[in-house]
Amino acid sequence: MEFQRVTRLQGQVMVPGDKSISHRSIMFGSIAKGITEIDNFLQGADCLSTMACFQKMGIEIENKGSRVVVHGKGLHGLEAPFGDGVLDCGNSGTTTRLIAGILAAQDFSVTLTGDSSIQKRPMKRIIAPLSQMGAHITSINGTGCAPLLIRGQKLSGISYESPVASAQVKSAILLAGLYADKETRVKEPALSRNHTELMLQAFGADVRTEDTTAVIQPARELFGCKLSVPGDISSAAFFLAAGLMVPGSEILLKNVGINPTRDGVLRVCEEMGGNVTLLNLKTEGGESTADILVRHSPLHGTVIEGAIIPALIDELPVIAAMACMAEGTTIIRDAAELKVKESNRIEVMVKNLSAMGADVTETEDGMIIRGGRPLHGAVIDSRLDHRIAMTFAVAALCSDGITEIKGAECVNISYPEFYRDLKRLSGNA
Ligand code: S3P
Repeated sequence: MEFQRVTRLQGQVMVPGDKSISHRSIMFGSIAKGITEIDNFLQGADCLSTMACFQKMGIEIENKGSRVVVHGKGLHGLEAPFGDGVLDCGNSGTTTRLIAGILAAQDFSVTLTGDSSIQKRPMKRIIAPLSQMGAHITSINGTGCAPLLIRGQKLSGISYESPVASAQVKSAILLAGLYADKETRVKEPALSRNHTELMLQAFGADVRTEDTTAVIQPARELFGCKLSVPGDISSAAFFLAAGLMVPGSEILLKNVGINPTRDGVLRVCEEMGGNVTLLNLKTEGGESTADILVRHSPLHGTVIEGAIIPALIDELPVIAAMACMAEGTTIIRDAAELKVKESNRIEVMVKNLSAMGADVTETEDGMIIRGGRPLHGAVIDSRLDHRIAMTFAVAALCSDGITEIKGAECVNISYPEFYRDLKRLSGNA
């Protein structure tokens, strides 16, 4: 797919539902008693993988487009996946790691697998704490990655200090904690996204947060509820960056989730001099939303490090592209987690930005970007990583010449209509 410079971007976008929240709504709805109605569910491939996994475990889920109805069967209502006993998580780390926490406590065995990217992503980070709780999980090929064989067991509550700030690790442990014999605690080095904690409360679980520690009590039952999924700030980030970078742009992003554990990109845009205004703020089920108005702005470099990193981890690729357009140097550090995402996002960003003429250096835990050099078109290998493809579609809009993105269709993972929405803003529908 090919992209090139546009004169300006103007208009409104309703970004699709939040990926993290959509996954959780299916999972928690499935293990709750009664009906869960989900509004604005993300119909991306990752969330459809989660849906298919629970359908295969006997849960009736009606997919009516953006509205989804889950007929939950309670904490002990799942059945062994029919047929081959295998659950396919596709490209989705969230599906794999969170489901593992639930499966660890069932009275059946499952093989959990996914695509070639999932089979390279680290799973020891969940195998270790879940095993401490009494789970039986083996990496079938001995790689520490999927496929995993999970044999459900009785679990016991633990107090776990996680070496990484990861919501997937934290959530796997909390979900197992629902089934444990006593309280479970997970302490993180910095607070990661807290959608699991907020949504489990809506389903009736006893879960609370003390600083960077999440604490859950075993549950007798969860109860179905109504949920409205906010727009995904990780998807909105591409338009935030594009609006700031492309001269003359003004974009209104409607109904975007601005949970403080996810809003790091907004804080960085402001820090870089971006003109970003929040309008129409609301809160529902503990999750806050706003309409975000973004206008083209001259940007300057910044340092991104420490506790903010988990609040913008998925936005760092597009922030790196934005830093190329900023005056001065931007340093990203404490972000080694980027190496174990859908691709090694440090290596892939540095390679592709360099191909477009950027002055960027790879470091152990991030990158250094010296901004202000004009970018030019290049052939970009997305490595089938959705956030890399979208980042370079945006970078191309303020670069000379033509940018060709290989594997561009991978945006289906989180934002199937991304190219349509981007084209519409440039008046090029
Ligand atoms: C997610 C957590 C983050 C994030 C991923 C979604 C979640 O991963 O990068 O896209 O839904 O919990 P980690 O928990 O590995 O940091």
